[in-house]
Amino acid sequence: MSRIAIIGAGNLGMFLAAHLRAAGHDVFFCVRRPPDAVRVEGFEPFEIPYFLDSPPPADLVLLTVKAQDTPRALLWLEKLCSAGQPVAVIQNGVHHEQRVVPYPAIPVLSYVYVEPQNGWLRAFQPPRAHFTVPAGGGAAAFVQLFAGTALSVFEEPDFHTAAWRKMLHNCVSNPLTALTGRGLEILAEPHYRDWAQRILAEALPVAQADGARLADEEGARVLEMLGSYPPGTRTSMLQDRERGRPLEIEALNGMVVALGRRYGLLVAVNAELVALLGG
Ligand SMILES: NC(=O)c1ccc[n+]([C@@H]2O[C@H](COP(=O)([O-])OP(=O)(O)OC[C@H]3O[C@@H](n4cnc5c(N)ncnc54)[C@H](OP(=O)(O)O)[C@@H]3O)[C@@H](O)[C@H]2O)c1
Repeated sequence: MSRIAIIGAGNLGMFLAAHLRAAGHDVFFCVRRPPDAVRVEGFEPFEIPYFLDSPPPADLVLLTVKAQDTPRALLWLEKLCSAGQPVAVIQNGVHHEQRVVPYPAIPVLSYVYVEPQNGWLRAFQPPRAHFTVPAGGGAAAFVQLFAGTALSVFEEPDFHTAAWRKMLHNCVSNPLTALTGRGLEILAEPHYRDWAQRILAEALPVAQADGARLADEEGARVLEMLGSYPPGTRTSMLQDRERGRPLEIEALNGMVVALGRRYGLLVAVNAELVALLGG
């Protein structure tokens, strides 16, 4: 049994808490307001210990705040990682480690999608493993943690490329659905498909310049995959926008813009999306 600190009691944080607790781990939340009871489909509702400050020591820290909330969450890491405990950064985007410098990071991609429905959290099972981490090295603690759970972890030899592949999906699906207030079915319409292609025409060269081993055909694959989702599929950025919450746009299209400028590439479409949805 491990003692696990989960920073953030949102969709993923609660989902992880349910699975880790069921596997016998001692789990607690680090939050900025008292959390609701954990209500995850497939589990009896339960309460979980939480801390608003001064958390006890943990063996492993799971960071599940949105990327834009990470700078403030570093205050938790200062307390939780004082003995070198690793922090699993379970967020969208690329270069996860840079967000939590100087703490030892395990970057994690989530392929399970969790969203609230009728007072419960519902998880949409992925076609592949639930989570992806870099093969070998420091990610072993995360892999071992989930060994006794119903969740699967894939160890990816080329994590950087995998992170960029997911990033490309998110850079298209999130801003376009958030701007239009509609689900992913918009990508079947020529006007939005054109926007999607223009986003990818900038983002893919940035990914390649940043070292991702992605072929030029990757953009077409992204569009094909996004087109396979059922009509009405809603992204987290669309849901955050409807709730009037800050958006993860800087970590997605904003990162494309920042890296594109560093590599001397054209990123005007992505910059426009950041201007429309940021701040
Ligand atoms: N949901 C998914 O299925 C899914 C799938 C793939 C990737 N992701 C990625 O995973 C990350 C988390 O997503 P999510 O859907 O779980 O987000 P979420 O539902 O918005 O949960 C984030 C939680 O973090 C809390 N928080 C923010 N700042 C905090 C702080 N300083 N200390 C403690 N708690 C803090 C928020 O609480 P407040 O109420 O106080 O704001 C919120 O409950 C994102 O990067 C997302 O893109 C999510």
